[in-house]
Amino acid sequence: MTAIKTENLSYVYEEGTPFRKVAVDDVSLEIEKGEIVGVIGHTGSGKSTLIQHLNGLLKPTSGKVLIDGEELWADKSRLRPIRFKVGLVFQYPEYQLFEETCYKDIAFGPKNMGLDEGEIHRRIMDTARLVGLKEEVLSKSPFELSGGQKRRVAIAGVMAMEPEILILDEPASGLDPKGREQILGLIREYHQEKKNTVLLVSHSMEDVAKNASKILVMNKGRVFCYDDTEKVFSRAKELESMGLAVPQITRVINRLKAAGVPIEDDIYTVKYATKTLLELLRKKAENKNDIQH
Ligand SMILES: Nc1ncnc2c1ncn2[C@@H]1O[C@H](COP(=O)(O)OP(=O)(O)O)[C@@H](O)[C@H]1O
Ligand SMILES: [Mg+2]
Repeated sequence: MTAIKTENLSYVYEEGTPFRKVAVDDVSLEIEKGEIVGVIGHTGSGKSTLIQHLNGLLKPTSGKVLIDGEELWADKSRLRPIRFKVGLVFQYPEYQLFEETCYKDIAFGPKNMGLDEGEIHRRIMDTARLVGLKEEVLSKSPFELSGGQKRRVAIAGVMAMEPEILILDEPASGLDPKGREQILGLIREYHQEKKNTVLLVSHSMEDVAKNASKILVMNKGRVFCYDDTEKVFSRAKELESMGLAVPQITRVINRLKAAGVPIEDDIYTVKYATKTLLELLRKKAENKNDIQH
């Protein structure tokens, strides 16, 4: 089943002025339900513009967007319910927190959907657990919290709407390495638990390598490729030529391979690299023993 489909989608900023900019250029793509997709690309490649089309925040200059097979903008009265299906977490979402308590902030979206108090409460408690917010934090003002905690509250606010599709624009940006890991970890857990479609926008190869099963690479407003994570990373040279560094560990492995170490391609996480290297060393030790005996 297709969750998201775009047909020849294009978007132009400042049409008719000297600042005219084609930000999304003839993008046709299909994303299956339940996937966790990393959307990567250089700054300015059109990632944010593309995803803002998926819940109708931007209207295509030309082309179509379909959610669950239903075309956005075909019938304006359907825009609102479709928007509830697609939750969008902006970059630096904590800037949009405004309520006096975290509880109220998370409640904002579900309230807007017209849900009753009991259901709203259930959703708040459920998402607070998912994003790792303790109950006592919920009665605090978001402004008393650390950067990482604030971001959890903001993400919980969108998750509490229980969207079928969750899209996060650079959810780890501006956080320290530990904070990054934690935020990405909770998104991964959310995906595992809910089995929803998740789009994770990032300019970091390391982040998407660890968390996504498929990768959409944007380049200059166009789709460079959309494929399984390992297939995308096997095109390291092309990615590097467009200024996208493959994960550091992939580069280390490629150097080892070039130096004659018989190791497989397509290694892009430290965990898998460790496992592969340990196996290789064990085999080598076994061979040595065989020779000695
Ligand atoms: N509000 C805007 N007005 C004019 N140009 C914009 C606007 N937002 C983005 N752009 C331009 O559109 C292109 C794509 O931007 P964006 O979608 O933000 O890319 P990314 O998220 O990959 O960094 C860039 O060249 C950017 O400068
Ligand atoms: Mg962006």
